[in-house]
Amino acid sequence: MLPFFIFLSAFVGQARTATPSSKTTTVVLFGDSFTDQSRAHSIANGTYPGKDYQEVFPPADTAADGGVQWPWYLGLYGNYKIWNYATGGAVCSNALTPLFGEPDVVSGQMDWFVQDHIENKRLGLNPEEFVVVLYIGTNDIGIHSFATDDQSPTVSLADLANCQLQTLRNLFKLGARRFIVNSLIPLELTRLYSPSSAPTIYYPAPHNGTQWNARIYNFVQTMNALLKGGVLALRQEWAARGASVQMFDTYGLFTEMYHNPTRFFNGSAPANVTGHCHQCPDADDYRQCGMPGPISLATAETVLPISETHSCGGANELHPSEQTGRNLAMEMFRAISGHSKFLS
Ligand SMILES: *[C@@H]1O[C@H](CO)[C@@H](O)[C@H](O)[C@H]1NC(C)=O
Ligand SMILES: *[C@@H]1O[C@H](CO)[C@@H](O)[C@H](O)[C@H]1NC(C)=O
Ligand SMILES: *[C@@H]1O[C@H](CO)[C@@H](O)[C@H](O)[C@H]1NC(C)=O
Ligand SMILES: *[C@@H]1O[C@H](CO)[C@@H](O)[C@H](O)[C@H]1NC(C)=O
Repeated sequence: MLPFFIFLSAFVGQARTATPSSKTTTVVLFGDSFTDQSRAHSIANGTYPGKDYQEVFPPADTAADGGVQWPWYLGLYGNYKIWNYATGGAVCSNALTPLFGEPDVVSGQMDWFVQDHIENKRLGLNPEEFVVVLYIGTNDIGIHSFATDDQSPTVSLADLANCQLQTLRNLFKLGARRFIVNSLIPLELTRLYSPSSAPTIYYPAPHNGTQWNARIYNFVQTMNALLKGGVLALRQEWAARGASVQMFDTYGLFTEMYHNPTRFFNGSAPANVTGHCHQCPDADDYRQCGMPGPISLATAETVLPISETHSCGGANELHPSEQTGRNLAMEMFRAISGHSKFLS
């Protein structure tokens, strides 16, 4: 697939230019389980998602947020057509941080984009009408990777950030002209990366919570600073070429949700951003909370009634809940329309 992609790139660069406008009709998303609706499950199911893949929604399948993922709400709020290439377990580049081998942003997910939108070496989407959203990094820096010192000795956080910027460059070559890079969320506030040393479903092994929490904080802050610098540099480079590159402060939005839960979580139970919708009585036995495996996506039946899930910030120890996703979708809708304080 990769040579095909490089071959194409040479031909489709002469696209029209675009500036942020209210004409946005389409959103193209790349990412991981924070965005995936059913691609990872479909792969696990033996039904590899191909061209024009239509996602499977509940009740046939639930995403890692325990239900419907935020891009669906974004489509609803902005009346956008959504092309969601995000895949649970994905990283920016499997060459850098192989992890689970899911289709990665820079190549596997990009190949899907090419299959769907490049025909006869031409981009089928109008660059003035679509925006690319890149929202990746949690797995790249997380457990089984940087968080646990399992990364390759020759891979750094700078490589991970560069991978995201390279993805933007590749899409630019294909004709895309409007980009939003979502920063990493405050992972230090999730149960998985909290200062507690107690076992969790995703990481039952003994660890020093104090160090663990400080490490992930450092990685998230560093990644976000690298991404911000890279986005600014690309913006300058592309200024005369009609492309727009912006950063959405997911970190800031999630922090605001965390500190103002009653403003964002309206379920019938009290707002709760420290607990999560799916509770597991025994962290050493993931089966008790309905998950298929300790590092798989949560497919647990919703333990709480849906009205109560509107109260929790997290679906589980790592994944934001559906209600958090709704809040993200609303703010991303504002961002795409140019009115969000989290967009810069
Ligand atoms: C899994 O496979 C079944 C049968 O082919 C199909 O109906 C279902 O939609 C698939 N699930 C996903 C998430 O793709
Ligand atoms: C965990 O790490 C912190 C900070 O380095 C240290 O103060 C503490 O003693 C460690 N705890 C254990 C149980 O080793
Ligand atoms: C909570 O707010 C969402 C909109 O974000 C709305 O769709 C839902 O019905 C509300 N839930 C309750 C229980 O009020
Ligand atoms: C939130 O949920 C956690 C875990 O279920 C619980 O320990 C905590 O007391 C809850 N907080 C509130 C404000 O309900």
